[in-house]
Amino acid sequence: MVTFIGQPRRTRVCTRVDATCYTKAIAPLRRILHSDRMSSEKLAIQARGLHRRFREGDREHIVLDGVDLDIRRGETVALRGRSGSGKSTLLNLVGGIDAPDAGTVTVDGVELTGLSEHDRTLFRRERIGFVYQAFNLVPTLSVADNVRLVLELNKVPPAEASARIEKLLKAVGLSDRASSYPDVLSGGEQQRVAIARALSHEPALLLADEPTGNLDDATAEDVLALLDKLVRATGRTLLIATHSMHVASLCDRVLELQNGRL
Ligand SMILES: Nc1ncnc2c1ncn2[C@@H]1O[C@H](COP(=O)(O)OP(=O)(O)OP(=O)(O)O)[C@@H](O)[C@H]1O
Ligand SMILES: [Mg+2]
Repeated sequence: MVTFIGQPRRTRVCTRVDATCYTKAIAPLRRILHSDRMSSEKLAIQARGLHRRFREGDREHIVLDGVDLDIRRGETVALRGRSGSGKSTLLNLVGGIDAPDAGTVTVDGVELTGLSEHDRTLFRRERIGFVYQAFNLVPTLSVADNVRLVLELNKVPPAEASARIEKLLKAVGLSDRASSYPDVLSGGEQQRVAIARALSHEPALLLADEPTGNLDDATAEDVLALLDKLVRATGRTLLIATHSMHVASLCDRVLELQNGRL
């Protein structure tokens, strides 16, 4: 059993995917993805009329109240807003971790809100990378194996996985730490592993939730510059929730969540 890395605490735990069930479920999904890629240029993210509310006892809290969002492929976008404004909630909807009460989310041409929870999980695993404030590395796995886990889940052949791991660890400056365990790494190093892991399966979309929130200013700047460089070098789309003006200033565009709307 493994916990699907990168999932925040309130989401469910997924078991390692059984090969038959994976093949059965992923084949039609691959066809959807493929046909979508073959068609006209699409937005990386399109959300329409997103509503999300949470109930606590008899109190209902409306967090998102009709969010529309268009992000082009290859764009880097910062999502700002006060604490509790719904940034993580919105990222979870865009990443297919959570489902909206109303509205639609389309990522890379696939409407997530039209998929079953199972297919959403497969889509997320294949097409989306996550980076979180708390790094979320698996403590019992080495640096290399933390990255390898995502590649295994995506059925990348072992030789290719090893080559990718080597290249990614080099890109994040951690070639010499491949066999180290997360607890001996600094916060910045752990986040660099998390970035390598998030990019390892070459996702269309990278979602980052306060990725520098646990780092000192200088380390945060380094990690951010690295993230920005790797995302731009590969033409990926980045949506990053942040309180930092500096992070926002590096992005192509800044969106502000306020009173449940952008
Ligand atoms: N599963 C849940 N159950 C109940 N309330 C929730 C749940 N998830 C989020 N909320 C509430 O939704 C609101 C928005 O939370 P969210 O985590 O999206 O905010 P945020 O903008 O990311 O804040 P921060 O900047 O502090 O991370 C908060 O009031 C939070 O308590
Ligand atoms: Mg948050």
